[in-house]
Amino acid sequence: MRVLVTGGAGFIGSHIVAELLEAGHEPLVLDALLPSAHGDRPPAPHPGVPRLTADVRDPEAVTAALRGVDAVCHQAAMVGLGKDFADAPDYVGCNDLGTAVLLAAAARAGVKALVLAGSMVVYGEGRYTCPAHGTVRPGPRAVADLDAGRFEPGCPDCGEPLTPGLVGEDAPTDPRNVYATTKLAQEHLAAAWARSTGSAAVSLRYHNVYGPGMPRDTPYAGVASFFRSSLANGRPPQVYEDGRQRRDFVHVRDVAHANVLALSALHAGGGAPFTAYNTGSGDPHTIGEMATELARAHGGPDPVTTAAYRLGDVRHITADSTRLRTDLGWHPRITFTEGMKEFAGARLRGDAERTG
Ligand SMILES: NC(=O)c1ccc[n+]([C@@H]2O[C@H](COP(=O)([O-])OP(=O)(O)OC[C@H]3O[C@@H](n4cnc5c(N)ncnc54)[C@H](O)[C@@H]3O)[C@@H](O)[C@H]2O)c1
Ligand SMILES: [Zn+2]
Repeated sequence: MRVLVTGGAGFIGSHIVAELLEAGHEPLVLDALLPSAHGDRPPAPHPGVPRLTADVRDPEAVTAALRGVDAVCHQAAMVGLGKDFADAPDYVGCNDLGTAVLLAAAARAGVKALVLAGSMVVYGEGRYTCPAHGTVRPGPRAVADLDAGRFEPGCPDCGEPLTPGLVGEDAPTDPRNVYATTKLAQEHLAAAWARSTGSAAVSLRYHNVYGPGMPRDTPYAGVASFFRSSLANGRPPQVYEDGRQRRDFVHVRDVAHANVLALSALHAGGGAPFTAYNTGSGDPHTIGEMATELARAHGGPDPVTTAAYRLGDVRHITADSTRLRTDLGWHPRITFTEGMKEFAGARLRGDAERTG
């Protein structure tokens, strides 16, 4: 299968390219090598894999890249929370206009299979149970509560403490920041494209992806890389809130494998026009546990919990990835402990000259 991997020079995309090669497929990459992702030191292309340096918003470049392609794996996006709201046009441009240009070109080229890098951020705050009110979805947390160290969202009806649960794909979406909004719009565009062209699209809603090659501590990076960078500099990881916020950390090679399975299933045909799959390990941990595990594997220093917070962060978000296991036969192959041990000594993108 010949697969166009957009964003194939990025953290996840480059692992997908490796996994495709290993499975005997023929990847090619289109990537704009964004400075916000790569600084002025873009990575070398994967040996033997053609790489077109172009923006997904460029219809001619995308049309050329799609020639002879069986399926598209769309990873290109601006990621993270960004610096402030002034970034919104860039996020919407890269992520949504970019997706629209890509899909229009795919429609013209007759390419009928698309796997999209989705995200769990489309759910907003996770799913909770109130002893009195059953399943509830709390709204954004109030600044006054966060300032007072009240990090757990209460029941929207009675204010009582809630028990966090697993989020399924059919949970209502509730994007809470610009990035999340653009990730949800990408899914809607992919679904509209699939229905109107007789194609099929899958969104893999990744949870917190980590592993070798993860970007270093930029405003666009994930929490595991902040901790990893602190440790590399001899500083304790700074854990926000009280460290008890829960996430599902999924290893980048497991995510790459899910992409290859989804591409193969789409290529085989017969699926629904659009399917979303949560892509998480199914083994949630708190951010505090993650920091502790990384610090231990690194040989210290121990993490500190700061009570600081970022507005827009959700408290708990953990996936139910049963559908991905059942439909595509995926299962994570790297445990939390193994993955964090490897990550503690792994090279991050942007620190090639340093140790590790
Ligand atoms: N890392 C995570 O934990 C995570 C979680 C959920 C979803 N995702 C999604 O996974 C995908 C890959 O993310 P990543 O973590 O590898 O990020 P990344 O920044 O390492 O990779 C993204 C790549 O896309 C390229 N790119 C961005 N905009 C482009 C454009 N307009 N045209 C061409 N190329 C462009 C960048 O140059 C970069 O190489 C993204 O769609 C992201 O939203 C990531
Ligand atoms: Zn209640």
